[in-house]
Amino acid sequence: MYNYTLHQQLHATLEEKNIAVAGSDNLFYTRFIANATAIDALYRELYGQHPQGAALFPKLINTITEAFISRSEVLKARDVSKEQQGHWFLSNELTGMSLYVDRFSGNIKSLEQKLPYFEKLGVNLLHLMPIFESPSGESDGGYAVSDFRKVDSRFGTLDDLLHLQEKMNGKNMYLMLDIVLNHTSHRHEWAKKAKEGDLEYQQFFYMYPDRQLPDQFDATMPEIFPESSPGNFTFVPEIGKWVMTVFHSYQWDLNYTHPAVFIKMLETIFFYANLGVDILRIDAPAFIWKQLGTTCQNLPQAHTILRLIKQCVQVAAPGMALLGEAIVAPKEIMKYFGTGLYTARECDYAYNATHMALQWDALATGDTKVMLAAQHEILQKPFGSSWITYTRCHDDIGLGYDDYMIAHAGYEAFHHRKFLKDYFSGAHPNTPAIGALFSVNPKTNDARISGSLASLCGLEKAINNNDPAAIATSIKKILLMQAHCFFLGGTPMLFYGDELGYTNDYSYLSDPGKSYDNRWMHRPLIDWNKNSKIDKKGSIEEIIFSGTQKLISIRKNLPVVADHKNLTWMTPHNIHVAGYLRTYEDKKLYAIFNFSPQTAYLTWYAFKEHGHAANKLFDHWTGKEMKVGHDNEYLIIEPYGFHLLEA
Ligand code: GLC
Repeated sequence: MYNYTLHQQLHATLEEKNIAVAGSDNLFYTRFIANATAIDALYRELYGQHPQGAALFPKLINTITEAFISRSEVLKARDVSKEQQGHWFLSNELTGMSLYVDRFSGNIKSLEQKLPYFEKLGVNLLHLMPIFESPSGESDGGYAVSDFRKVDSRFGTLDDLLHLQEKMNGKNMYLMLDIVLNHTSHRHEWAKKAKEGDLEYQQFFYMYPDRQLPDQFDATMPEIFPESSPGNFTFVPEIGKWVMTVFHSYQWDLNYTHPAVFIKMLETIFFYANLGVDILRIDAPAFIWKQLGTTCQNLPQAHTILRLIKQCVQVAAPGMALLGEAIVAPKEIMKYFGTGLYTARECDYAYNATHMALQWDALATGDTKVMLAAQHEILQKPFGSSWITYTRCHDDIGLGYDDYMIAHAGYEAFHHRKFLKDYFSGAHPNTPAIGALFSVNPKTNDARISGSLASLCGLEKAINNNDPAAIATSIKKILLMQAHCFFLGGTPMLFYGDELGYTNDYSYLSDPGKSYDNRWMHRPLIDWNKNSKIDKKGSIEEIIFSGTQKLISIRKNLPVVADHKNLTWMTPHNIHVAGYLRTYEDKKLYAIFNFSPQTAYLTWYAFKEHGHAANKLFDHWTGKEMKVGHDNEYLIIEPYGFHLLEA
């Protein structure tokens, strides 16, 4: 509906700021007009009843306008070119890597020297793990930010970052950074002021004078780090109050019921956008709204906040895509793409955490039934949005898929999950994996899994046992896992070190700032002598690196794997084999994976079920051509082997 007052308000701001609505800024103006009604409605939904809600709305309009004004011409041109490409981030040409700058190369300057390494591998999107100021020893890997705008001196300066971004831009590489939206470090300026007794800033957090409300919250809120940080509140002795700390005690949850908090964080989002961030990873969005009597996760208002952010970003920095890091139940993850009127208008990306965990399930059991049972949920993803697909990241592996999916596959959920945890933590007698349980909660029997891709695939144990056959098997598993997530649709995100098989790193145990958190075992310190072995033919590093490199290059040359919502699962003729079909225009790619330690046989009939059947298939992985056989004959797939067959 046309909202006269709103548009007058908008015009007044734009005029005051000398925006050339009919001239060079016309695209911005058009986007603003197109999104204004939604911005107004979403804001009112959240803050309509707040005493400062109406008074702060002009500030929101101002923030968006200022963000556009301070956006560089280079970035504005990049916005236009991305818009012309359509959904630029659906492309098969994007491949990412997440890394800790200090652990990878030392600092931002030296990271710039490593750009050729990424180019060699084929990676053109870098996710730099949090680089803004964070107190050492209380940093949660940088996710406890004490200054959202100051690059931590450990990594370098803001200028170094800008220089890197410019260099990357020149090489057609993309940058992803985090906004840690849910909380600040207890050493952030706002928290410090709150500790000094400033009531205005105390309102920025969830603070209570006694245990009455905290106890009520705790009754329904799960614990995120039950071992290292039990409960959801921390006592602040300076003021004798309790503050909500869902993650660690040094991470104070921001109170988004206050519009000033929202606007300040939106300003930070634009600050990152104007540094040239291409994909903004919104950390832990599931937690950003709290309400008594609930789990305080995935609440409708959390989605309203994300939608509001999306509409604002769309106006001033449309080239920046939003990734919602919601590692929650499958049904809940899907909602981060938006629902109803906001379908595909919330987060552009989400992590395919469900599928990630299901791949580990299939690897341990050699059975793909649970994976298949989950697909009808995952396939609901709306067109125009995409997944980050991955096998490992800096976090633990949570077996977050639903019990009914396990039951559908014929297993009993409790025992099935127990088997998986035993298998990957190394407790199971015959497991090749070396990992550990993370955040064990004896009250709920919950636990997640830590460990690097290589160690969970058996490489660490195989090396310890000096067992060449087991080493070869583990390498096959590593490439199988990567291939399966690379072709599934979405942007593959490698985790640094996995491209050459880094096993667990136990040095964290002697660092008091890390030893309480075993996720550090899979966050390696890169040793560039080891990395130089990627050039030594036949070394473990070389085999894994060149395999990964080959997978990336195959993907880049196959537009059929761009995320056009063009994935169909093949009929499970063999439960050990996962097969999916990607189709685009007249192109067809069958991706077939054997998750079992035995040779698998797949009837050729499987290739005749989805429209016109080809006589010949070209396998991009082996470079060989195959003849499609008779229905009673089989495609033979090696143990942990896979094929990428183009019709
Ligand atoms: C996200 C991060 C994780 C961190 C948490 C709290 O889940 O990935 O590493 O501990 O948020 O910020």
